[in-house]
Amino acid sequence: MSLRKIETFDVLVIAINGKFPGSIINVTTNNNVVVNVFNDLDEDLLITWPGVQMRRNSWEDGVLGTNCPIPPKWNWTYRFQAKDQIGSYFYFPSLNFQRAAGGFGSFIINNRDIIPIPFAQPYQDIVLMIGDWYSRNHTALRTALDDGKQLGIPDGVLINGKGPYRYNATLVPSGIQYTQIDVDPGKTYRVRVHNVGISTTLNFRIQNHNLLLVETEGRYTVQTNFTNFDIHAGQSYTFLVSTDQNASTDYYIVASARFVNASLWQNVTGVAVLHYKNSKAPISGPLPSPPDDTYYKGLSLDQARSVRQNTSASGARPNPQGSYRYGRINISNTYVLKVMPPVTINGSTRAAINGISFRKPNIPFRLADNHSLQGAYKLDFPSKPTNRTPVYPGGWTAILVSLDNAGYWNLRSENLDRWYLGQETYLKVINPEENGETEMKAPQNVLYCGPLQYKQKDQSRSAASSAFTARFNFTYLLALFTVFFIFS
Ligand SMILES: *[C@@H]1O[C@H](CO)[C@@H](O)[C@H](O)[C@H]1NC(C)=O
Ligand SMILES: *[C@@H]1O[C@H](CO)[C@@H](O)[C@H](O)[C@H]1NC(C)=O
Ligand SMILES: *[C@@H]1O[C@H](CO)[C@@H](O)[C@H](O)[C@H]1NC(C)=O
Ligand SMILES: *[C@@H]1O[C@H](CO)[C@@H](O)[C@H](O)[C@H]1NC(C)=O
Ligand SMILES: *[C@@H]1O[C@H](CO)[C@@H](O)[C@H](O)[C@H]1NC(C)=O
Ligand SMILES: *[C@@H]1O[C@H](CO)[C@@H](O)[C@H](O)[C@H]1NC(C)=O
Ligand SMILES: *[C@@H]1O[C@H](CO)[C@@H](O)[C@H](O)[C@H]1NC(C)=O
Ligand SMILES: *[C@@H]1O[C@H](CO)[C@@H](O)[C@H](O)[C@H]1NC(C)=O
Ligand SMILES: *[C@@H]1O[C@H](CO)[C@@H](O)[C@H](O)[C@H]1NC(C)=O
Ligand SMILES: *[C@@H]1O[C@H](CO)[C@@H](O)[C@H](O)[C@H]1NC(C)=O
Ligand SMILES: *[C@@H]1O[C@H](CO)[C@@H](O)[C@H](O)[C@H]1NC(C)=O
Ligand SMILES: *[C@@H]1O[C@H](CO)[C@@H](O)[C@H](O)[C@H]1NC(C)=O
Repeated sequence: MSLRKIETFDVLVIAINGKFPGSIINVTTNNNVVVNVFNDLDEDLLITWPGVQMRRNSWEDGVLGTNCPIPPKWNWTYRFQAKDQIGSYFYFPSLNFQRAAGGFGSFIINNRDIIPIPFAQPYQDIVLMIGDWYSRNHTALRTALDDGKQLGIPDGVLINGKGPYRYNATLVPSGIQYTQIDVDPGKTYRVRVHNVGISTTLNFRIQNHNLLLVETEGRYTVQTNFTNFDIHAGQSYTFLVSTDQNASTDYYIVASARFVNASLWQNVTGVAVLHYKNSKAPISGPLPSPPDDTYYKGLSLDQARSVRQNTSASGARPNPQGSYRYGRINISNTYVLKVMPPVTINGSTRAAINGISFRKPNIPFRLADNHSLQGAYKLDFPSKPTNRTPVYPGGWTAILVSLDNAGYWNLRSENLDRWYLGQETYLKVINPEENGETEMKAPQNVLYCGPLQYKQKDQSRSAASSAFTARFNFTYLLALFTVFFIFS
């Protein structure tokens, strides 16, 4: 016999200016972006902006290889340019598993007015941040990982920081706050969807509505209709959604766990509501079905592989070298990177790439080089896994990277738990022809730490002139979540 008890309690989330998720940064190509970050947490903080290219400027990338952490109660100003790019991205705290508690937000780079987008101007933008969620706080999750434990099945999926609509009275108790998106009928919306979660792949779908894929990670795509789309942790996709349905009721927006045992993971389902302003009734009934790959396991892979860049559209383009004929590009270096489940190294559970697990440096490599400090890192990363059997046990992919951006760049797992356990390294990209001169100089407010701590001065203000300035106050916020305990 089992006794079920439902409780509601407070969980601390990381909020920005009191908001969870944080504010949208909405800029235009080539804008200078200035973000003054106030760290009111009781931990170090760094904000990273993946996808934003930081041309020749790894100093603002917000990861441990390039920046000293912002200590608790300090503030630090990021200054960078959203140069020559467009797209939908998200920013988040890069240290200490903090992303599991929030601190993330959307980062949009719009085309300049004179550069046409490859579709009619949408009526409005809608941003959806979807992600798996644990009721334990990020310090408890960290402790579990440090102890070599797995995090287990998440407690749910949040959509824009809120829990599921009560689509099923058995699965979802009453009183949970959910996200409702209000739309006008007969319009086309640009829906930017980000999987900000820890590790769960989510299948995204909107009941009775086509998802016309138009952009991903800063590239306009060949436009393709989907009824649902698999979004892995860390990925961003933009769809055009036409509100072309009968408004007899509202419609479900669903983000459900993928590649898992559905009966065990049925609570790991985010449900929001698409509400037409002339809607006649609330929604009820079953959710739209997830993809069924009982008979064909390649469904998701085929979907991902069908995504093609529209090379005649505006936006970032592949390197013109070879006129997109990748086969003709001469390859200067090949690295085989082998990623394995966590292993025990030196008595603790670690995740590794080619058998090497990343340890927090006491000084960022970029800073160490700037001050000619030796020994902060080694340049001996193996180009092949040390143990080559079994080969490609779980699948493989080949990536062509043109190293056209001088700096120190982070290469890591997008699974937050693997990243936390050390699945990370850095690429040091120098420009031999110009003696490294093309890289930007350290910013005036560069932070010092570790062996250079003695150089750290008081914080000083320097005038900001830019098209976009934001002030971000990172604090803990008490958010009400409802979670379920089962006592047997
Ligand atoms: C690609 O972009 C061009 C230029 O904007 C546009 O005219 C065309 O319709 C797009 N093609 C597809 C298949 O999306
Ligand atoms: C971003 O700004 C553009 C105008 O520059 C506006 O059209 C768009 O709706 C804004 N998007 C969001 C999500 O605020
Ligand atoms: C996080 O959870 C742990 C264990 O439940 C608790 O001891 C700790 O106080 C919590 N931390 C915060 C900041 O709420
Ligand atoms: C609600 O979910 C439970 C558990 O999956 C299922 O047995 C039940 O049929 C669902 N109820 C409705 C009305 O769909
Ligand atoms: C899902 O949530 C419901 C409602 O609280 C609960 O009864 C059920 O046991 C949960 N299922 C799983 C697999 O955790
Ligand atoms: C996508 O679906 C809509 C509605 O069915 C249709 O009008 C449109 O032509 C389709 N677009 C593409 C590129 O298939
Ligand atoms: C809208 O849907 C309702 C319920 O399915 C149906 O009765 C009605 O005829 C539909 N209206 C239109 C204009 O399709
Ligand atoms: C899914 O989990 C249920 C409950 O534990 C189990 O009975 C079932 O065999 C599992 N299905 C698969 C395909 O593993
Ligand atoms: C690639 O290498 C071949 C053979 O060395 C050379 O002929 C060709 O010009 C190179 N192509 C490029 C784009 O550098
Ligand atoms: C293992 O731990 C010891 C003691 O902390 C340390 O000196 C050594 O460098 C560690 N070795 C590796 C491979 O991390
Ligand atoms: C270190 O940074 C300063 C300021 O940006 C720059 O002038 C100097 O050339 C750099 N030194 C080295 C060795 O990189
Ligand atoms: C900290 O914030 C204050 C107040 O806005 C500002 O004057 C100062 O420049 C900031 N310091 C840094 C290092 O960004």
